[in-house]
Amino acid sequence: MKWFQKKLKEYSKLRGYQKPEKHSNVMKLDSNENYAIDPAFSSDIIEKANQLSDVREYPLGRAEKLVEAISDYIKVPTKMIGIGNGSDQIIDLFLANFVSDNTRVITTDPTFGFFEERCKLYSIPTIKIPFSKNMTLELKKFLSKGRESDILYLDSPNNPTGFQFAKKDLQKLINEFRGMVIIDEAYVEFADYSVVQLAKKKDNLIVVRTLSKAFGLAGLRLGYFVANKELVDVFSRVIQYPYPLNSIAIEAGILALKKSKYLLDVANTVKKERGIIIQKLRNTGAFEVFDSNANFVLFNAKGGYRRFYTALLEQGIVIRIIGKIGKNAGCLRVTVGTPQMNSKFLLAVRDLLK
Ligand SMILES: Cc1ncc(COP(=O)(O)O)c(C=O)c1O
Repeated sequence: MKWFQKKLKEYSKLRGYQKPEKHSNVMKLDSNENYAIDPAFSSDIIEKANQLSDVREYPLGRAEKLVEAISDYIKVPTKMIGIGNGSDQIIDLFLANFVSDNTRVITTDPTFGFFEERCKLYSIPTIKIPFSKNMTLELKKFLSKGRESDILYLDSPNNPTGFQFAKKDLQKLINEFRGMVIIDEAYVEFADYSVVQLAKKKDNLIVVRTLSKAFGLAGLRLGYFVANKELVDVFSRVIQYPYPLNSIAIEAGILALKKSKYLLDVANTVKKERGIIIQKLRNTGAFEVFDSNANFVLFNAKGGYRRFYTALLEQGIVIRIIGKIGKNAGCLRVTVGTPQMNSKFLLAVRDLLK
């Protein structure tokens, strides 16, 4: 068999990242997007970005402006910031270029699906530490298994559980881990803390972030990361594509970052709404509902979870089927939307339980 046919056969056995199903005319609470942002805010940004871009040209020098805007937002020097076509692409480039034959990854079970699939693509052996029954993690297990691993990947908060280690525990883990640490802070604006400033002290720490969630720009594919200057220099000069982001996305990203105060206010509203969803789902007595530090809520709808999902879909509400997590057999994940969307979801839940 020719070498590439062999490789193709190997790859064809992989499942790949499972994107959510596409449904028309539904209330979309399945992808942790941010509908709480005023649509006029987003369209205004795109209009201005359009005016500022001449798409006949390569976006020379503009990515640097985006990095400056990120630097202002997170208070980290520009030399410590790299960008990518969504945080997916950044994670992918780190895995593709830094692993060797002996590299082993340690992460949680479950972890961010894309990361897991990428490890499979590059045949990286993965140690997975499962969540407990109440969707928390034990630091001790990470500390001991971490000694056998080269890359630690944690999404903090975790997708799909919403869990985030207590700050001192995550700091301890980062301090004790000897290999490369990737902390994915996609949902950090909805959480209680970030470890981004730690990257100033820890040379092995890479904090990956995105404008897809709190900034509501998932469709533009704007990701960034923070790490030591040398790593950022090599990544940006050698590993990353010359023009990873398109002109309109870059300009829109800069404009959105300048409005971060509004977006952080929206994130705060989402946090409050999350509390309401958790409480009301708990009050039904029908589910086990887990705490969350992100813009979504995970709940165990037990044996009838598929039926429940379908019944909601029939009412025009789409959430995400997660399935089994440890001993929790029927997990579903719902994104926090606008207060109106959340009320509609909660009313539909109440009606279905009657
Ligand atoms: C933990 C985590 N990281 C990264 C991403 C993807 O971010 P991006 O849109 O920047 O590729 C997601 C999206 O769902 C996510 O859940």
